[in-house]
Amino acid sequence: VTFYVPQDAAALAVGADEVVEAIRLEAGKRGLAARIIRNGSRGMFWLEPLVEVVTPAGRVAYGPVAPEDVPALFDAGMAEGLGGLGPTEELPFLKRQTRFTFARCGVIAPLSLADYAAMDGWKGLAKAVAMEPAAIVAEVTTSGLRGRGGAGFPTGIKWKTVLDAPGSRKYIVANADEGDSGTFADRMLMEGDPFHLIEGMAIAGLAVGAEHGYIYTRSEYPHAIAIMEAAIGLARDAGYLGPSVMGSGRAFDMEIRTGAGAYVCGEETALLESIEGKRGQVRAKPPLPAHEGLFSCPTVINNILSLTAVPFILDKGAETYANVGFGRSRGTMPIQLAGNIARGGLYEIGFGITLGELVNEVGGGTATGRPVKAVQVGGPLGAYFPPALFDTPFDYEAFTKAGGLIGHGGIVVFDESADMAKQARFAMEFCAIESCGKCTPCRIGSTRGVETIDKIIAGREVAANIALIEDLCETMKFGSLCALGGFTPYPVLSALHHFPDDFARPRPAQAAE
Ligand code: NAI
Ligand code: SF4
Repeated sequence: VTFYVPQDAAALAVGADEVVEAIRLEAGKRGLAARIIRNGSRGMFWLEPLVEVVTPAGRVAYGPVAPEDVPALFDAGMAEGLGGLGPTEELPFLKRQTRFTFARCGVIAPLSLADYAAMDGWKGLAKAVAMEPAAIVAEVTTSGLRGRGGAGFPTGIKWKTVLDAPGSRKYIVANADEGDSGTFADRMLMEGDPFHLIEGMAIAGLAVGAEHGYIYTRSEYPHAIAIMEAAIGLARDAGYLGPSVMGSGRAFDMEIRTGAGAYVCGEETALLESIEGKRGQVRAKPPLPAHEGLFSCPTVINNILSLTAVPFILDKGAETYANVGFGRSRGTMPIQLAGNIARGGLYEIGFGITLGELVNEVGGGTATGRPVKAVQVGGPLGAYFPPALFDTPFDYEAFTKAGGLIGHGGIVVFDESADMAKQARFAMEFCAIESCGKCTPCRIGSTRGVETIDKIIAGREVAANIALIEDLCETMKFGSLCALGGFTPYPVLSALHHFPDDFARPRPAQAAE
């Protein structure tokens, strides 16, 4: 009998290894030959550890499985695919998705070159090696792909800038320094489908004439790092990396760099400084990295979700990708549902789904069962949305219009027990802790912001201090050098504007006075 049990960090955190041991033990007792394949996660985190059993009719899902459940599951016919949740692919959470980027994640054994190739792997790269660089760039531009790190800048235009930039040495940098709260798509992809990132980066290299790439990720991702390291070695041995990519005579190779976990190192110029061995501090732009990036050479720096959208685009065609989406946001977005939510996980779908559908229908509302109070979209620098804005479609422009951003696609849900004044304070405190210190509005403003919100929470001169916060946010928004200081006003002001009562109510501590 063949079982799949994820080795994704989220599954390991809830005991996937212990479940594997329990399956081995139980199968042994029953004289069954058990083959256990460790896959990535399917992205249904509330069902982890998710065990799948291979049957003639496909894979059948069981979850969440605790080690002590295993004997009873065998008694109920798990080895034959009886009981459980039914066919994995038929689970509504998976069935309703459009998985362009995460098609293989959770399905294949991450380090199996055969599995990867059997599910369209390397097809995009094979097309790219037969194309002129400008044609690759044109295909990416036609697809409408925009940067998935958060800013939504057109990927094709970024690549064209690097292709056209003079210079004999160019670089590809994959930003996998996933620091946003509630996000895990980069990690899941690296752990579940590592060759995909390698393929995306190799295509980028061929497209702009770069022969070397770096994956920059965080030390908090040890499993992803180990799997990526192994995948790079295997891809190199198989000729997908190295002096002649797929026999093309064109070279591309890559290595991994690990950061120490500073949030600001996800900002592209701080990230480049960090790869160069310097302290992670933001550089002033211009020059853009596309002109003068890593080691002062023209550099494509993309989020890994942008890079991994590309193999599909080349393989299936830019039109196929562009046909999905909403407005100027084309293709799919891997959305990450987290926080106080019943069904948390990864949900990849075309742009245009509304925030309310995501939270209530896909996510099933809060885990506590209490009403949703607020949803923070786009990480710690994203705005808080009240349910009144749940008809906002997931789209770069619509979110900007509603006073927020979609960022890296992270959604963190809060129920009615959340205190939004404290959340606003948290945003300022986060900025103060993570500030790189290069510019004054962020370095000093965030600390003054914490103090001022503390006064509001303590009920001291509330109206005057709220006016001060609004003024400070204006300064931070327009005077900061990068998005850390510049976007901290989003959570602060959205909390203030959508939940004014939380800034004017007596706290338990005061009530006791
Ligand atoms: P940005 O708008 O300054 O730039 C976006 C990208 O386009 C950059 O790579 C920039 O170099 C490039 N670019 C801009 N103009 C160009 C041109 N004419 N030619 C070629 N390339 C050009 O935004 P920034 O500061 O890089 O990112 C801010 C975003 O980062 C925010 O929207 C936020 O959501 C997101 N973010 C993501 C996090 C994560 O964990 N993924 C964490 C924190 C923020
Ligand atoms: Fe550094 Fe903050 Fe200024 Fe960004 S806004 S450059 S993190 S001090």
